[in-house]
Amino acid sequence: MKARHFLQFKDLSRDEYEHLFIRTRWIKEQFKSYRQYWPLIDRMLVMIFEKQSTRTRLSFEAGMRQLGGTAVFLNTRDSQLGRGEPVEDAAEVISRMSDIVMIRTFEQEIVERFARHSRVPIINGLTNEYHPCQILGDIYTFIEQRGPISGKTVAWIGDSNNVCNTWLQAAEVFDFNVHVSTPPGYEVEPERAGLYGTSHYEEFSDPMQAAREADLVTTDVWTSMGFESENEERKRDFEDWRVDAEMMKIAKKGAVFMHCLPAHRGEEVTAEVIDGPQSVVWDEAENRLHSQKALMEFLLLGRVEQ
Ligand code: CP
Ligand code: NVA
Repeated sequence: MKARHFLQFKDLSRDEYEHLFIRTRWIKEQFKSYRQYWPLIDRMLVMIFEKQSTRTRLSFEAGMRQLGGTAVFLNTRDSQLGRGEPVEDAAEVISRMSDIVMIRTFEQEIVERFARHSRVPIINGLTNEYHPCQILGDIYTFIEQRGPISGKTVAWIGDSNNVCNTWLQAAEVFDFNVHVSTPPGYEVEPERAGLYGTSHYEEFSDPMQAAREADLVTTDVWTSMGFESENEERKRDFEDWRVDAEMMKIAKKGAVFMHCLPAHRGEEVTAEVIDGPQSVVWDEAENRLHSQKALMEFLLLGRVEQ
């Protein structure tokens, strides 16, 4: 059977996500009740990191172990990947020695090439273009807190980066709206975001207008990994794109605040908001663990019903 991959959000259907959310809830309950669930007892995950990580590394490694399997960490510095071995050759070899692979790297093209030469499922653990595992956990968190996301409005404030692009793809899958506000010069590039059209998002020059009546307000760092040379320029350009208490007030009553983390208090979000009552960032981070366990179960075992 051909391996299924999770390289961008639109790789799974809405129906498959609904299944993953049911499994996430069940798997989370097992974990919270200290009940063992070891369906992947003989399986091994390889995690390849070309950029830094706390949450993604830990949630995948802990998740694989909690499902009974093992995980191996590789980085560019200590492996032949950093010395120019072709991605295709690495994929051929690594996928003969493991059962599933997670990659965090630069261009999306790298994970796509890796997947074409892999015998086993490949998961995108963040590229310059997308962060599908993040939005998998984020949408689960929204549903857990507030119910279905279809028809709702998500306000994205800041850079039209990998996390933003993934929200936009998710809006097409789940039929919700994204109000995007970026500084001039940082607007959404629909083709790079992998969108079918523009019917699920609207761009606002004023971040306050984007946040108006939103059910969820979210943002991310002004400078993503790999773009550090633009840091000073971005600090100037993004100065007015900060989520603060006034912005949360203009959103719907009961709106939640999310951030994929790590966050920079005083830059893209004030401490008052991220540490305030509307913030769900810790549940959001925790749900990476549970939702990725459901994802690995699905990619390796198909639809498990329990
Ligand atoms: N949100 C997220 O992916 O965090 P890490 O960079 O710590 O993995
Ligand atoms: N947009 C950020 C997300 C980090 C989890 C980055 O790519 O650095």
